[in-house]
Parts: sequence; structure tokens; C-alpha cells
Amino acid sequence: MEKEFFDSVIIGRGLAGLSSAIESKENKNTALFFLEKEKEPKANSFNAQGGIAAAINSNDSVEKHFNDTIKAGAGLCNQKIVKILVEKGKEKILELIDLGFEFDKENGVSFGLEAGHSEKRILHSKGDNIGRELTSFYLKLAKEKNIHFFPEKKLNELIIQKDSGKAVVFDDLLVEFNSLIFASGGYSSLYSKNTNKGKTKGEVNSIALKAGIELMDLEFEQFHPTTIKETNFLLSETLRGEGAFLVNDLNEKFMEKISGKDLATRDVVSVKVTEEIEKKRKVFLDCTKIKNFEERFPSIYLKLKEMKLNPELIEIEPAAHYSIGGIKIDLNSRTNLKNVFAAGECSCSGVHGANRLASNSLLEAVVFGSIAGKNAMQTKKNEKIKTEKINELIKTKNSFNSNFDFPLLQKLMWNYCGIKRNENELQKGLTKIKKMEKNNYTFLAEKIIESALNRKETRGTHFRTDFSEIKEKAEHTVIRK
Ligand code: SIN
Repeated sequence: MEKEFFDSVIIGRGLAGLSSAIESKENKNTALFFLEKEKEPKANSFNAQGGIAAAINSNDSVEKHFNDTIKAGAGLCNQKIVKILVEKGKEKILELIDLGFEFDKENGVSFGLEAGHSEKRILHSKGDNIGRELTSFYLKLAKEKNIHFFPEKKLNELIIQKDSGKAVVFDDLLVEFNSLIFASGGYSSLYSKNTNKGKTKGEVNSIALKAGIELMDLEFEQFHPTTIKETNFLLSETLRGEGAFLVNDLNEKFMEKISGKDLATRDVVSVKVTEEIEKKRKVFLDCTKIKNFEERFPSIYLKLKEMKLNPELIEIEPAAHYSIGGIKIDLNSRTNLKNVFAAGECSCSGVHGANRLASNSLLEAVVFGSIAGKNAMQTKKNEKIKTEKINELIKTKNSFNSNFDFPLLQKLMWNYCGIKRNENELQKGLTKIKKMEKNNYTFLAEKIIESALNRKETRGTHFRTDFSEIKEKAEHTVIRK
């Protein structure tokens, strides 16, 4: 097998991975691997529509952003980490502006509003194309560095020795490292309805857990209330921030009675939309009040045109959108395995608590990607693997049969571990999944359901119909091998 060595290996083609990569120093040798065979990075962050939240508006403050994040997180946010997010996040955005990144402007910078924000603080770029613009900007910065890109390699194995990461195997290439950063996205694709156009399906979380890395809060999957029905195409919350509202086929504005109305946090709106659908009602997003739709939301406008849909009244349904749970990391983006870091959606620091505040995820990718990158570059030298010892090391594989029925798994996750959960349905789902092929997808799905079964309360995105109360004491779910 061919062998390579890098000071730092990053797995991930999105904003968190690129943001780690640009911390690479001149004298360091960094490699960026994309999980899937794709030439250009098109991760979930690339597809983000809404924006990036930061308290740079003159009426705003990092304290207000902190408080909104904590409130949305339903008692489970790690306050120290949220403080880092809002403070460093603001610095990063100002740095980006200095570097020449262009946010959309209306007398300076224009600020949008999304659910759960007490101030207009969502920055956007080229209308609803912030993800594409930011990722491309970071990719350009990364290309100026001494970084080796491996866009067509598939992760096969993680190799560890005792409590330390040693190497990864991509196809037929063994890559040793001083430090490894997982930045490979979430597991929303495990659900049949999901907004993730990227191909990451959470396999890295399974590999990490099998290798002894702790995972946290897997039960907190964030569902987005508005996707175009039966397409998984996201209709950004910013539409509601700019005047769109939900209405059913009886012409009832059912969010009117709820605190926060159409801009209640996503967990609340997703449940309400689901309840309407359960009552056999159709739900629509009415966008008649949006000014300059085509200019402000060019990608959404184009999609609607392509589908010959009327932008004024679009039938919607919720879909899995963002995995709050993931690889447990500390303030320094470190996992519990020496030399191994994680950042972005595949990680879980507690920054989002039980429900992520809208547009905090691009900020998370930028801030914690950079922290992971900086710390990874300082990792001490790892002893090289002796070829004759390779078979004695622990290897976790990323394998599954090509005829594995992935759509069935997605359907089971949606039906039995979706927006509204209860013991009976979760158990049914678990039993069915246990009968499927054992691989990294079913392994992770089982862990998600077990976490959902163990959390006997309703908190944030975890809505239990059989345990409707929130417990006084907020606790994380930590899973170990
Ligand atoms: C959206 O545009 O509604 C999604 C933004 C986000 O997930 O933060």
C-alpha cells in the first residue's frame, strides 16, 4: 500500500474543513481530503441559504447574541463555548470584511432577521448564496497555502494505537499524521426527508465511536419547517424574516397564536407544521409580502421557476436539516482521542444546546474550524508506524455492501425517530433497524434511536409525545464505545 505523511490531515470539504486548513503554517504539511469522490467542495455549508449570524450591527451586542443562542438551546448550551462563538465569531466576520469578502449591502452591510434572534444580525451574500460565496472564498484562501488536496479519495479506515490517532486509509493510500481533524458534516441524510444535498451520511461519527471517540447528544436532530413539498429543497427561514408566513388550506395562519408567531424557533414551528399535516391539512408558505423576491432570493426563485411553482404560495413540509449531536469536543476542538480534533456539523461542543439558533452554524464552522486548525498545527510529532506493526494496530472500517437498502433505513428513521417521538415508535424503529445489515449507517442510526429513547423529556428539537415536560436538570447524552 502507498504511504504518505502529513503534519495535519483534515477530512471535510466544507467551511469547517477549509477554515481549519487556512490555519496551516508555511513549515507545515497539511492535507485536505474530501470524503466523497467529488472534485469541488459542495458540502452542506456550500448549500447554506440563510446567512451567518454575528453581532456587528450598531444596535446589537455579543451579549444579545449570546442570550439568544442560550435561549434557543433550551438549557443545554455550554456557556463558555457560546461565549467563544459570539466573540470570536464577530472578530472573524470583521476579519473577513477586511480580507475583501463581500456581504450584501444597503448603506454598509444589510442585516436579515431569522427565528430566535432579538436583533437583525444575519449577514448574507449574493442573496441566498452565502454558503457558496463563503466556501468559495475560503477555498481560494486555502489554495494560497501549502495544502495538498485529495478530492477523489474515499475514507476506508481510521487507525489508532492505544489512545492516539495514527493514520487514515483512503482507498489504497495509507496516510499517517501528527494530527487529524474531522470536519465532515452531519447525519441528517439518514432521514428520507432531509435538506442535505451533500453526500455525507454520518459514517465518520460511527468510525469515530468504534475507535473510542466519544459522541454527544445524537438525539438532537434539527428539523427545518419549510422545504418545498416532496423535493427536500430548503425554503430559507429568512423568507419568514422578510415577511413570508405559514398558512393552511383552510386559510388559517396557525402560527399566529404561538409565541414568536412565524418566527418562533425552528423546533416549535416544525412541530406545529407536523401537527397540521397530521390533521390532513396542506401547509403553504405565503411569500406575497416579500419585496424583490428574484433579487433577494435568486436560488429559490430559480428553483420555483424550474418547478413552475407560484412563489406566492408554496406547499411545504419539514425535513431533517442539521445534526446538533456529533463527535464530542472541548473548548479547543479536541476529542478524547489524542491528536484527533473535530469541527463543524460532525462535532458537538454543546454550542447549540438542544436547538441551534438559525445561522449560527456557518459561524460555528468558521470559529471552531479555525480553533481546530490552530491547535492541530501545534500537535507534537507522532511516531511513524513500523510497517511490520501495522497489523497489530486497531483499525475501524468504513464498509457496507453496495446493495444495502439505504432508502429503507432513511424511511425508518423518518417514520420512527422523526419530529415527534415516543417510546413505542422508537422501539419499533430500533427493532427494524437491528434486522438490517450491520454497517456504519445502521450502527449510527441505532445510537441515535437509543439516545432518543434515553432522553425521557421534551427539550429543544427532541419532542417526546410521551414525556412532554422538560426536566429541571439539563444533561448531555455522552456515548462511549
Ligand atoms: C435557513 O436558511 O433557513 C437555514 C439557515 C440555518 O440553518 O441556519
